[in-house]
Parts: sequence; structure tokens; C-alpha cells
Amino acid sequence: MSTLPEHVLEEIRELPAKYPQHRSAVMPALDLAQEELGYLTPEAMSEVAEALKLDPGYVEGVATFYTLFHLEPVGKHRFYVCTNLSCTLRGANEIVQHVKGAIGVHEAGVVSKDGLFSYEEVECLGACEYAPVARLDRRYEVDLTDQKVDALIAERRNPPQPPHPLPSPQAGRANTPTSSPPKKRGGKRVKKSG
Ligand code: FES
Repeated sequence: MSTLPEHVLEEIRELPAKYPQHRSAVMPALDLAQEELGYLTPEAMSEVAEALKLDPGYVEGVATFYTLFHLEPVGKHRFYVCTNLSCTLRGANEIVQHVKGAIGVHEAGVVSKDGLFSYEEVECLGACEYAPVARLDRRYEVDLTDQKVDALIAERRNPPQPPHPLPSPQAGRANTPTSSPPKKRGGKRVKKSG
């Protein structure tokens, strides 16, 4: 039985068609696998290699080279804070310190006690004009401040509850305007012009 579910493997198999070089699909494929499992197991890397018809050693080499890929369990939400030049000049190191304090870890790659967070320092994320920048849950968070970091953490610790479902039309008195048919204006038909 596969480590990766069939729908993920299917998505990975379709990736090479999107790139001029077949091998270029390896990064997004590993990203999909990591998104699914949280980190890259040896089995997952083998399955990626098989799905892309690539040498397993090559896939493993890519996975071990880039810090964005994890070979050990990491937090569910991972801050990848850019500490390259532009971001550092605009306070990235202070942001890293703040993230560490807010999630309660002392070094990169360590998972917070609640299992929700970890962080990494990474090279330029290609959004220098918005420095300081981090990637979190596949989104870029830009112009970071301590307050923004706190808000991002709070949102993930207390995700918004889904709204209550609307009452059914059978609920009688509880009908809402959205469940009532629109009234005809003055009971007359509106004539079409022309
Ligand atoms: S230096 Fe941070 S995004 Fe480029």
C-alpha cells in the first residue's frame, strides 16, 4: 500500500507536462508529498521518484538539499522566515526572535509543545520589496511585524468556527429573507422594452 494517497500520486504524475524539463517537476512534487504527510519519509520520496520516472537518488538529493523540505516531523504550521540581506536589513532577525518566543521553541526545526508550529530560517524568497517576509502554510506573509506574527499564530491556534447553517425553509417562523422568494413589485409584470 502506498504512503501517498492515489489522488496525490495522480497530481504528481501530471506535473511533468507543465515543465519544459521533466526533472523540474521534482520540487512541486516533493512539495505536494510534504503537504500531504507533513514531512518526507523515504517511502514518500521513492513514490515521488516512481511517479515521475526519476532516479530515487536524484529525488532524495533534491529533498535533502533544500531546507524547505523536511525529513523529520515538523510543526503543522511552519514559518519559513527569510533572513537574507533585504529582510535582515528590515528586521528579519528580530522577527525570528519573536517567532521563537511566541511559539516557545529555542531553535529551528523544533516543534512547539502543542505540535502546531516550527520555524526555519531560509534564503531569499524572492519578495525582497516586501521585506521582512516569511512563508507560512504556502502563503507569503509580507511586511512582517511582531503584531502580524502574533495575529498569524492566534488565527491558527483559534481557527474561526464555520458559520451556523441557515435554518431550513420548513422551519416556519425562522425563515430568513434569504430563504423567502422575492416579492413581486405591486403584483404587476415588468414589461420588456424594445
Ligand atoms: S531577501 Fe528576503 S525575500 Fe529577498
